[in-house]
Amino acid sequence: MHVVHTIAELRQHLQAFRRPAFVPSMGNLHDGHLALVRQAQPLGDVTVASIFVNRLQFAPHEDFDTYPRTFDADCAKLAEAGCHVVFAPTEKEMYPEPQGYKVHPPAELADLLEGHFRPGFFIGVSTVVMKLFSCVFGATPSGVALFGKKDYQQLMVIRHMVRQFVLPIEVVAGETQRAPDGLALSSRNGYLSPAERVEAVQLSLALKGLATDALAAGDLAAEREALETRAMHALARRGWRPDYLTVRRRHDLQPPTAADARAGQLVVLGAAKLGGTRLIDNLEI
Ligand code: PAF
Repeated sequence: MHVVHTIAELRQHLQAFRRPAFVPSMGNLHDGHLALVRQAQPLGDVTVASIFVNRLQFAPHEDFDTYPRTFDADCAKLAEAGCHVVFAPTEKEMYPEPQGYKVHPPAELADLLEGHFRPGFFIGVSTVVMKLFSCVFGATPSGVALFGKKDYQQLMVIRHMVRQFVLPIEVVAGETQRAPDGLALSSRNGYLSPAERVEAVQLSLALKGLATDALAAGDLAAEREALETRAMHALARRGWRPDYLTVRRRHDLQPPTAADARAGQLVVLGAAKLGGTRLIDNLEI
């Protein structure tokens, strides 16, 4: 496995290939990332992962400084999973000057849910992903990029960006990987105390409960908000601070109409803080 730190080295290395399969990450890798790396292998002629903690997608009060950086362990896991190239740029390499040009995803997709609670988050994500795409795919005719469904809205924003900028990149989704108790794997799970770790599965259980209620609703469009409020109150009673638990239609994350509910194209999404840790999860129903 080659580890490269500069864009020039990366591009030079990838010149020999026609279709990189790329898994972007911020490191502190878990089985969710590694499943994406394994899924990537048959999709391209070289498998590339990036490790870059992107300051642009963190608000000043968020965990940029404390975000776990575990580079050596990450490289060992990537090599084991069959990754061929790791791109681990420094901040100076990715942002040699203040990033004046940014990708602003449309408000109707990016200012709701995560974007509402983390203003600017999807601008930071879209901008770095566009730059990473340019670094990885700049020297090849096409490529494939893999993103986990755990960050459901992020996946939608990236798909939308790729479509609207007609980038020659196929975006492939990976299923959410879960711990045996059902907790979605996330780098931020490491922040949980042992007691919080036991409690953490309640977010996915609350989403399952909301999904069951949504499917049982006679008129989902009319009942949705009451069901969501009830689910959030139940989680709050356990000591969580929920940002949202909501039923949406899959294709644009807008509130579903009765026809969307009948078509069965729904997703429930949630974000909530447990102690100092903010967790997100979702379930397609
Ligand atoms: O999902 C992540 O880890 C990050 O948002 C990404 C896509 C690597 C961009 O920094």
